[in-house]
Amino acid sequence: YDYDLLVVGSANADLVVRVERRPAAGETVLGSDLVVHPGGKGANQAVAAARLGARTALLARVGDDGHGELLLRSQRAAGVDTTGVLAGGAPTGVALITVDPSGDNSIVVSPGANARLTPEDVRAASGLLGSSRVVSAQLEIPLETVVEVVRNLPSGTRFVLNPSPPRPLPAELLAACDPLIVNEHEARVIAGGKPDGSPEDRAAALLALGPRSVVVTLGAEGALVATGETMTRVPSVKVDAVDTTGAGDAFTAALAWRLGTGSSLPEAAAFAARVGAAAVTRPGAQESYPTAEEVGAL
Ligand code: RIB
Ligand code: NA
Repeated sequence: YDYDLLVVGSANADLVVRVERRPAAGETVLGSDLVVHPGGKGANQAVAAARLGARTALLARVGDDGHGELLLRSQRAAGVDTTGVLAGGAPTGVALITVDPSGDNSIVVSPGANARLTPEDVRAASGLLGSSRVVSAQLEIPLETVVEVVRNLPSGTRFVLNPSPPRPLPAELLAACDPLIVNEHEARVIAGGKPDGSPEDRAAALLALGPRSVVVTLGAEGALVATGETMTRVPSVKVDAVDTTGAGDAFTAALAWRLGTGSSLPEAAAFAARVGAAAVTRPGAQESYPTAEEVGAL
């Protein structure tokens, strides 16, 4: 394999304003100066894996504009192979993000070029798909494009999906996930269930939909790892949260990479929880991702 991880997904310019509190409908609040960070769930995953030392490639689409250049620069600085980053067709995706004093965020994404990443683009990237040990995806690109990825997956290549933002998923896609990685909100949208159900209940409901394994992330509480045979709770490390944006993307990337190196699912999730914890201690998404050394020091 030429790549430990191929990420298929979105790239966004993150337009971030810190606020004391979010505005209600019809209300205006004043926030901090605007900061523009490279982001997008796909681009974030690629940078996170590369920072940890994974040989990483990204299949994505950006616009022919300044935001696209910002994203390409960030990928290249991290050492990501960008031969699969296509340009043009629409403006680069943008995420409008507010971050509150506790480090929590709310995000509106304008997909732009991400919506133009097509099944045809996936078929044209068969060289990348065929030379990657693990492939990961999210849902800020068209669902049919993600389905095309699993249709073209070489046998022996592992597929990891973080279905964010969540929506009901076709059986064909679910069956390919090993694991499906969700937070509790995403788990509820995909599997339904009572709002007060336990993470174990949610994992069981998700497993019944067909993925080979499921990981439910629990924020500061770590994660729950579930296969047909076992359910294991994996702890996180306590840190002071500055900005949680993109921490889930770092978790997914770290887990996907570790699985490819032969770690068990609980081992990979424990490592990923530490990577996610490190990421929340610094502002932004990609710029906040740790190296393997920094994870070890945590
Ligand atoms: O998961 C975090 C990401 O979600 C941000 O970088 C933003 O671009 C949105 O896609
Ligand atoms: Na961060």
